[in-house]
Amino acid sequence: MATKVVATAFGGPEVLSVVEAEVPQPGPGEVVIAVKAAGINLFDYKVITGAVGADPARLPLPVGLEVAGVVTAVGPDAVGPAGPIGVGDEVIAAPVAGGYADTVTAPARVVVPKPPALDWPVAGSILLVGGTAAHALQVAAPKPGETLLVHGAAGSVGQIAAQVAVQDGARVIGTAGESNHELLRSYGVIPVTYGAGLADRVRALAPEGVDAAIDTIGTDEAVDVSLELVADHARIVSIAAFGRGDSGIVLISGDDPATNVRAEAWRRLLPAAADGSLKLVVARTYPLAEAAEALRFVRDGHAGGKVVLLPS
Ligand SMILES: NC(=O)c1ccc[n+]([C@@H]2O[C@H](COP(=O)([O-])OP(=O)(O)OC[C@H]3O[C@@H](n4cnc5c(N)ncnc54)[C@H](OP(=O)(O)O)[C@@H]3O)[C@@H](O)[C@H]2O)c1
Repeated sequence: MATKVVATAFGGPEVLSVVEAEVPQPGPGEVVIAVKAAGINLFDYKVITGAVGADPARLPLPVGLEVAGVVTAVGPDAVGPAGPIGVGDEVIAAPVAGGYADTVTAPARVVVPKPPALDWPVAGSILLVGGTAAHALQVAAPKPGETLLVHGAAGSVGQIAAQVAVQDGARVIGTAGESNHELLRSYGVIPVTYGAGLADRVRALAPEGVDAAIDTIGTDEAVDVSLELVADHARIVSIAAFGRGDSGIVLISGDDPATNVRAEAWRRLLPAAADGSLKLVVARTYPLAEAAEALRFVRDGHAGGKVVLLPS
């Protein structure tokens, strides 16, 4: 039998239940993965609360969008972006349906090889935030020598966006709580504390101006400070300020079929994470049975990195 975590109603983390199910069989173009690590995203919380759709016919609802693990079965034509997939391969899959599980069936087109040197918790939690960071960077498009402001630079999306921008030659100023400033400095990011007076503090750090901004937080402060400091509003991108669509900034979510940046992000991010040149903090890991507690920690907003379930 397989063990999975489902939402039995729409509501807070308390609606999550651990259930037993038949081990899924792979259909054409599918693989079955024994999950070693399943990343938790705030979006999972939005899904179970019904914030992104509350059709009772979808209950019990599988939860979790990304996993890393070992392939245990393959259907016909199981070919991923890196080629044919076989039993025993160590892989990463995102997006999947129902990642909070010890066994997951995924379409091969979202399954990529896990670099051997990449540890399981990072492997199971890097692709959704990493793809989002890559997409945000594509819109903000910081050039070498330009100044990029990242709101929430100590968050998971923010950490990756900030590091990649630094490595590509931008000067990056990142907002974070004081306890994360040293971490940001270690990435080559100039830290600044968010809260009242933020625009003035950023101006003092970038008297020559800010060329582009990435908002990973969605507060009015992040949007308004960006609008104040960045002349070209088409170079302000938010992944969270969905109430501010009328402000002239660019909002991004989900897929980007026209550019495929998210789906292709693994090609750069995984080797970099494996060789240590790209860091992703894993704040906490939990056993599968403690998924509700893990999701509460993520919901509370200051995890300081990824939170990951370790089913086996
Ligand atoms: N649109 C998309 O495609 C997409 C994709 C992925 C995620 N998201 C959304 O993007 C958001 C961030 O995701 P994430 O995974 O990076 O979150 P995360 O890892 O939980 O990070 C959140 C970070 O926000 C920081 N923070 C909290 N309040 C802040 C404030 N007022 N100003 C600046 N920073 C603040 C915290 O840093 P401190 O501890 O330093 O305060 C924390 O580290 C979530 O809302 C998520 O749902 C959207």
